[in-house]
This record gives sequence, C-alpha cells and structure tokens, in this order.
Amino acid sequence: VASCGDLQPQTCLSLTLLDSRLLLVVDTDGKPSLFPDTCPHRGAQLSLGSFDGSKLQCPYHGWEFGLDGRCLYQPAHPDREPPEASSLPSYLLREEYGLVWACLGGNPQNLPKYPDYEDGTGRSLVLEAVPLASSGPRIVENFLDLAHFPFVHAGYLGDPKIAGIDRYGVEVVEGVLRLTEVSVWQPNPGPLATSGGPVSYEYTVSHPYAATLTKTPSDIDGGDLGGFSILLIASPLNEIECLVWRVVTVRDPEVDAEAQRAFNRTIFEQDINVVESQLPQRLPLNLRAEAHQPADAGSLAYRKWLTERGTTYGTVYETD
Ligand code: FES
Ligand SMILES: [Fe+2]
Repeated sequence: VASCGDLQPQTCLSLTLLDSRLLLVVDTDGKPSLFPDTCPHRGAQLSLGSFDGSKLQCPYHGWEFGLDGRCLYQPAHPDREPPEASSLPSYLLREEYGLVWACLGGNPQNLPKYPDYEDGTGRSLVLEAVPLASSGPRIVENFLDLAHFPFVHAGYLGDPKIAGIDRYGVEVVEGVLRLTEVSVWQPNPGPLATSGGPVSYEYTVSHPYAATLTKTPSDIDGGDLGGFSILLIASPLNEIECLVWRVVTVRDPEVDAEAQRAFNRTIFEQDINVVESQLPQRLPLNLRAEAHQPADAGSLAYRKWLTERGTTYGTVYETD
C-alpha cells in the first residue's frame, strides 16, 4: 500500500485497497498504523479531520481516536468514557522489500517470495507506483507475457522482425508457478553488449497479484553484473484499477539509480495503453474465453493457477 520511504513521521496517507477506503497514519516515531478512513460514528472520512501525531479527530462530531484505534473522547459527552464499540478497527501492517503491506482480513497469508531482495549482492530500488486501469491479474499476466516485447517495446526489449518465441519451461513447485529457461531476443541484451542477442529470464508467481522476473547474467551482456530482478505488485484499488509497485534489484552495486528508474519508467509507460485497452478488464479464467498461441504457455498456467487457488477478485469466468 505504500513505500517505506513514504512513512514520514506525523503524517496521514489516505489510500484504497480492495475497494476499502483506508487511512495510513504515521506516529511521531515513524511507526505506521492502518485504519478504515471512515468514522465508526456516522461514516465521515477521518482524513478530512486532523491528526497531531498521536490522535486523530473526526471532522464531523469531533470524536478523537488514539493510534491503537480506541475512541478517547466524544465532545458531545465530555464526562463519559467512550464505549469500546466506538473504537476504530486497525489492520495488520508489515514492512518488507522496501514496501508497506497490509492485510485486511483476519488470516494473513505469506507475502510474495522475493529472495533476491535479501541476498545482499545487489542494490534494490523501489520505483514510483503507477496507477493502471486494469485488473491485478491482467497486469500480472502482461508482466509474464513474452510475445509482446517486439511490438510494445520495439527497439527496447525486442524487434518485430525477430519476434519468434522459443518453447520454455512451466512448472508449479510447492505452490509457486515458475517459467524457466525463457529466452528472448533483445536489441540490447545487457550493459556491455555490442549487438542484439538472446537473454535468459525466469519468472515466479507466488501471490495472485504479484510476480518476479530474474534476468540470468550471461557473458555476452556484461557477466554477473548484468543480472537483475524485478518484483511487480499490482495492488488492487478495486477489481479493475490497480496501483502498480515495482522493486528492482540490480546486481551491480554501482549502478546509476536514476538511469534505472528512468529506463523502467519508459518500459512501463509503453505497456499502459495496451493493457488498459484489454477487454474484459478482469482476466478470463475460462480457457476457452480467448484464443491462445504456444508462446502463451505461461499465461495459461497462470490462469489455471488462479483457478486452483479460487481467486475471483479481478477475474471473470464466462461459461459458453
Ligand atoms: S461521524 Fe465521526 S464523529 Fe460523528
Ligand atoms: Fe511490457
């Protein structure tokens, strides 16, 4: 729901996740808490009120809440202790991979697996979140899609004259979907490359709205330091709009961070028009709903993986 860098002490951030209007509050020590951005009294938006670093005050009737969610004061009844039922519920938060994660349910599940963030050999950058008008599953599927590189990213990640996609591996190991030995031709396969050539990718999906890509370093493109990984998260505002977060981990600790950010922004901007044009916006899980080509093995496996998990939010299942 946020970048750890957004957690400035004594601030409030109004945000949306899974159709819920939420308020992320950071206390004077930088510790975040997450509440509904809706007063339990008459439903007014708390972020329209005030926050002094330790108490929130609702703009409507002035109820005050502590950062444990307890209602501390109801100005219409200054001598009465507010009952427990006037409290704000708070949600579980966790900081991981440079991002703040929220759980709105009572049963927190594992975060996406992204071991490259921790392995200490590279440098990780949290990119600015980008709003995208499509479902989480459409966005993740685009991230796994190989055959669009030569068209959507012509001159950057592909060339329409060299658009063939070789067969690659698809497997599910311990619940994680993996696309292995993916090889795609790129005009500039790495920092030291002098001509176009193949690059090797591997993808994983361990969460319905997130995926990782890892570029395996190779000699032709700069050796070990040419490798990188990306964790992409489509954080659903609702079923058909997301905020897309990306964490990029580069192996080269000396890398020019601004150049990395700019390059990734350019690539992502190239995807926006096409992904926002896709209909239906929710990902069709009935495999007969759209036509496929062999290069789509990964996206078909992702659709089956979602079906097996029972993921419905952001998907459709049209029967024919
Ligand atoms: S709606 Fe918040 S105090 Fe009444
Ligand atoms: Fe793309």
